[in-house]
Amino acid sequence: MSISFDPRNLLASMVGEDNGLTQAELDGGKAAAIAALKGFRVSFEEGKYGFPDLPLNKNLIQEIEATAKKLAGSFDTVCVIGIGGSALGCWALDCAMRGPHPVQGAHSSKKPRLVILDNVDPDFINHALDSMSPKKTLVVVIAKSGSTAETMGGFLIVREWLMDAIGKKAASRIIAVTSEARGDLKVLATKEGYTTFHIPENVGGRFSVLSAVGLVPAALIGVNIKKLCRGAAAMTEAAWTEDLESNIALSSALHHWLIWTLKKKSIQVAFPYSNFLWGTAFWFRQLWAESLGKAKDRTGAIVNVGQTPIAALGTTDQHSQVQLYMEGPNDKVYSFWVVEKAKKQIKIPKAKLGLDGFDYLGGQSMGKLLDAERRATEAALATSGRPNCTFTLERVDEEHLGAFFQMMEFETAFMGELLNIDAFDQEGVELGKKFTYALMGRAGWDEFKDRFADYEKKRG
Ligand code: PA5
Repeated sequence: MSISFDPRNLLASMVGEDNGLTQAELDGGKAAAIAALKGFRVSFEEGKYGFPDLPLNKNLIQEIEATAKKLAGSFDTVCVIGIGGSALGCWALDCAMRGPHPVQGAHSSKKPRLVILDNVDPDFINHALDSMSPKKTLVVVIAKSGSTAETMGGFLIVREWLMDAIGKKAASRIIAVTSEARGDLKVLATKEGYTTFHIPENVGGRFSVLSAVGLVPAALIGVNIKKLCRGAAAMTEAAWTEDLESNIALSSALHHWLIWTLKKKSIQVAFPYSNFLWGTAFWFRQLWAESLGKAKDRTGAIVNVGQTPIAALGTTDQHSQVQLYMEGPNDKVYSFWVVEKAKKQIKIPKAKLGLDGFDYLGGQSMGKLLDAERRATEAALATSGRPNCTFTLERVDEEHLGAFFQMMEFETAFMGELLNIDAFDQEGVELGKKFTYALMGRAGWDEFKDRFADYEKKRG
């Protein structure tokens, strides 16, 4: 397994001192990076955060594999109902391992597909239900809180759809992934006898891809979760070392922290040159945004900090976004994600048409073209003073994916330390949730009904 980080195009020598880092700035930041690692380690050892050790939970991996084995062959679709951290990791895994939508291979009971209901758009839900057969669908409902309105609503619809088709057997076709000690989903799962997996209290949604949240759906669609966790465990080991050369999570956190805070790059573009990593880019977008966009620092001072993550796909978005990236405000840092070895290479045929626009391509591989396009974009950005860096994965397989997830989770945790903020809460999404409960008539939320009424009155 090999993942590397190349920060050369973040350096002042490549993009100028206004936009890139000097050696003195990097040297000056190293002590803060080591302190960030040590600070996070202390919190981890106190049991506050559980994601680093998730890939080491052999019992859970075995239990999930046994469940997947027992059910194998009885379904051709896994319908996940979840949202945010309870859905994006599943999508990232599915996209990387089964292929990007809509070009996944045909699904069957030997190669089940994943349908993720992570929105409450009625047209989307109806369309999804029409595409699935209740007799061949296994339902996985995921909510750590056990009460998220979108997930509870979606689940009630799917549960009834199942019960209408298979009656009492429905309970045996539902798996719940939730907190052990709280939430109405846990209560219902116990009452109706669903197979249930628990999310540790010290693992937040966006850090939960290697808990049952990601592992259960992944195992059901045939992903090798042992290998996934093996890759992640190797990254955990590397992420605890103080040597910046071998700890790419820490090195990347340091470079990004300096570029963001010293060079005012308030936007980060995650730029995979791989359709298979497109889901992972959306997973990263949530991780970075929700973890690092905060009103207050740990002293309680108002800081309103955050770096806006954007997902762009190479080469597709070269023809959509790069004009802006090259000539618009120089407020972004670009993180290219490169896959060294394609699953299978494809050659461009030598057509010899006597037409220059075609003929030079003949005999070369698509991989070479993809690589040339990306290197050209990196160079174009760098020579225009636009800082960028590159993560290279040897290939997209379970081990690399597990390691890459874990690398980004550690990087985010270290960044939280460097910014002196709590990267693990999400107070900012609470008010909208409370207004929703009030608008939907949930008992106990009258205060927010009144506050919402005040807001509407003010708006006129
Ligand atoms: O990262 C987070 O904590 C959130 O994005 C949650 O995953 C999201 O709000 C869904 O929460 P729950 O799993 O409780 O339904």
